[in-house]
Amino acid sequence: MAVIDDVARVEGSLNDVLESEPVNVNRPKTWKGSLSSLTELRNNLLSVWPDRAYNGLTFSMQLLNQHYFVCNSPDTVKRVFLEEHSNYDQKSPQMRRALEPLLGDGLFVSDGELWKERRKACAPAFEAELLPGFAEVMVNSAQQMVESWERAGSETPIDMLSEMANLTSRIIGRTIFGDDTSEEEASQVVKGFTQYQQLIEQMSLADTFGLPYLRWLSNPFTRLKAIRAAGQVQAVIDNIIERHQAEPSRNEATLLSVLLNGYNGKKSGQKRCPLNHLAARNEAIVMFMAGHETTANSLAWTWYLLDHNPRAAAKLHEELDRVLKGRTPSLDDVPNLPYTRAVFEESMRLYPPVPLLSRQARAEDSIRGKEIHPGSIILVVPWLLHRHERFWEKPNQFIPERFMPDQPRPDKFVYLPFSVGHRVCLGLRFGLTEGILCLATLAQRFEARLKPDHEVDIECRLTLRPKGGLPMILVPRTKADM
Ligand code: HEM
Repeated sequence: MAVIDDVARVEGSLNDVLESEPVNVNRPKTWKGSLSSLTELRNNLLSVWPDRAYNGLTFSMQLLNQHYFVCNSPDTVKRVFLEEHSNYDQKSPQMRRALEPLLGDGLFVSDGELWKERRKACAPAFEAELLPGFAEVMVNSAQQMVESWERAGSETPIDMLSEMANLTSRIIGRTIFGDDTSEEEASQVVKGFTQYQQLIEQMSLADTFGLPYLRWLSNPFTRLKAIRAAGQVQAVIDNIIERHQAEPSRNEATLLSVLLNGYNGKKSGQKRCPLNHLAARNEAIVMFMAGHETTANSLAWTWYLLDHNPRAAAKLHEELDRVLKGRTPSLDDVPNLPYTRAVFEESMRLYPPVPLLSRQARAEDSIRGKEIHPGSIILVVPWLLHRHERFWEKPNQFIPERFMPDQPRPDKFVYLPFSVGHRVCLGLRFGLTEGILCLATLAQRFEARLKPDHEVDIECRLTLRPKGGLPMILVPRTKADM
């Protein structure tokens, strides 16, 4: 059993914890505006924020005709995402333009009445009653990864980012479509998605950050290629839906079957999700898109942070060994793994998978005395809020203890990896459970060391990930470690 030294134990406050800071972005002294900095922006949307953005409560920018307003305090985030939601329920036009070819009218990009209807229709797929079945898929898939890592032998070099992406796309694929999906179909969906994402990311400086006049920086054929990649994904899913509809009796509780047929909840009774073929297809694509890269990136950053923080890694191993005693975890273990959960939550604080959320104002408003005009883009930036100097002690350090049950829970309008308010992530419970179960299954058996000489850097486009992957070396934990 690994021994935890007393010096590192957190007693009441976080003051005793001394760790070096993990990788951060360079902060410019002032706002970047020059054309030369745009190339850097293409790689990293987080490199624009100067030091004072990590301390201020609101700020605004005017870029040509577009007004931007950044909500950087709990009261302003609450106003936009909760209190005045109907004025700010619309995603930015750039986000809609980038995702519509793939998602159609799917929940992620819709708004108003349609969004309300779809959100209501999709919610039953995320009922707590269905989670045990999905948790089994999570653990089995993670266990398969353990076995493949064991076969690869000790000291194997891997790219942890692609390993985690393979794991989470397998999990989301199986939970949405079930086991009857062929390998060929699964790989076509993943390929189409990857291609689409790469293509829209080439346009993403313009599209994600709301700088439409910069579209000339991207190849004019890129959008056409993206539409073709989206068509490939849609065609595969159409086939799967037709099969489901042809054999309704064999429907297991997959996310897709619940969207199409509803389910008979033991506790909650019959739940209907009245979605037709096209709507169910679009929502299945939303779930695939929203649900795999986010979890994969958070898990990859977690491995990096654990390697960077031997003290936290030792505490994690102590908890896993004590609670699981070498067996594979199940959903019932999750409440007994508070440190594992804290590690995952702290990792999403430092590296929020969706680091920038954008909305467009429908009507005039005033936030903290500042005028908001119809059409203004409102940004809520978890990257800034999660490292804000006024709201966090030692904001740049990895300290899982701040998420332990004996510590006050961070304000939900300051810590928002899954967003907050009406449009909060529908897969929150799913994603959190997946992160904890995958981490518990894998970290019980393996440690991973960053390849010597590799410098980790941050890439932020649609999601936040380690640039160029995360080359690590797997080190199996031996019986003596446990
Ligand atoms: C660690 C994992 C995850 C993180 C950090 C995450 C984060 C987020 C965030 C920040 C949003 C809001 C985006 C915005 O407002 O612009 C969102 C929305 C959404 N997420 Fe997740 N997500 C995760 C996993 C999942 C999973 C596993 C699923 C489904 C299986 C999912 C389904 C959705 C859906 C459907 C929405 C749209 C909700 C709406 O607009 O009403 N997410 N997610």
